[in-house]
Amino acid sequence: MTLEHSPLFSPAKIGAFTVKNRLAIAPMIRVSADNAGFMTQAMAQYYREFAEAGFGLIITEGLYTDKRFSQTYRYQPGLSDIEQAKSWQPLIASVNDSNTLLIAQLMHGGALSQHNKYRDHTLAPSPVRPLGKQMTFYYGQGQYALPEQMTTQDIQEAVEGFVAAAVNAKASGFHGVEIHGANGYLLDQFLTPYTNQRSDLYGGPLENRLRLYREILLAVRAAVGDDFIVGVRFSQKKVNDSEHLWPEAIEAAWQTFTMAKNCKVDYIHTTEPQASAPAFANSPSLAALAKHYSGLPVIANGGIVNGEQALDVLENQEADFIAIGRAALANPRWAEAVRHGKTLHAFDYDMFKPLANLESAKSYFQTRI
Ligand SMILES: Cc1cc2nc3c(=O)[nH]c(=O)nc-3n(C[C@H](O)[C@H](O)[C@H](O)COP(=O)(O)O)c2cc1C
Repeated sequence: MTLEHSPLFSPAKIGAFTVKNRLAIAPMIRVSADNAGFMTQAMAQYYREFAEAGFGLIITEGLYTDKRFSQTYRYQPGLSDIEQAKSWQPLIASVNDSNTLLIAQLMHGGALSQHNKYRDHTLAPSPVRPLGKQMTFYYGQGQYALPEQMTTQDIQEAVEGFVAAAVNAKASGFHGVEIHGANGYLLDQFLTPYTNQRSDLYGGPLENRLRLYREILLAVRAAVGDDFIVGVRFSQKKVNDSEHLWPEAIEAAWQTFTMAKNCKVDYIHTTEPQASAPAFANSPSLAALAKHYSGLPVIANGGIVNGEQALDVLENQEADFIAIGRAALANPRWAEAVRHGKTLHAFDYDMFKPLANLESAKSYFQTRI
């Protein structure tokens, strides 16, 4: 079925910008930068195809923010200086030609860092070894390192890293930034009681566990002004814990999404295994709660593979935009295919063998043809 004339292809606003349709590429690390943290030509080509195929919004993979403790993966791209940021400019020129917005996701790995060329140990809210094992398809092996507890100075430096990276993103032509507050990385480690055992102003009650989000969002907004998009991503689940639920449940949703609104973000991005599933027992989805409590544009992500599912989320007024992850890896021209009712391929984890990088994907596609 063609969805060309459906609401999926109607424009909507985020902050000062109009997005041409409701379809976004979800942030996805592809460990394909060069060793200096620069974007490569292969990466530019990979992202350009999403723009050419009609996605209204591209959220980049998580980019590390500083040359201290933020880098998380080998061959992860960074925004820690203006040269790294400028390496994205050839792509920015072509997304502008396609009238697609490009948002840089800003990420600090905290205790989940598997590789950091600037430091040889990890930092986290508390010295708690992360659950699970490092991800081998991102060059990891074995247990995560035991992190050191961040001092107030370390926390301040992490905030400064997010601010500097956002300023670099704006200076090099991105349309906005998304603060990665989800999936088990540094900010989420502060939010989560079992990884945050602090007794200072950053630990204990939910309001304290949200303090780092508040500080980063306010500082980033103050630095970039109102004509640049600032969004924030939240999840319950983590890359190393697929069971986690916010312990304060609906109260957490209320406090978290109200906090984001009060920090003047332009959108909230929620991710769950299934975007529309109840977030808590008998509750609306996390996306719907974000919309309800913040009144902001919401991007919903998780488990959406076809246009009809995406349209349902919009028509049920759970979200304003839909972010597509793995389905877009299997079908880089997903937006165009959905628009014209073409057949879609199923996502296959073989694409990430041996690594979740562009090289492995290229070999996979050569054998798929
Ligand atoms: C290879 C890969 C890399 C990912 N990297 C990131 C990332 O850098 N930042 C992020 O917030 N989420 C990341 N994610 C999570 C996705 O954005 C998305 O939430 C997840 O794939 C679920 O959405 P889907 O069902 O549409 O794939 C990644 C997912 C995959 C498959």
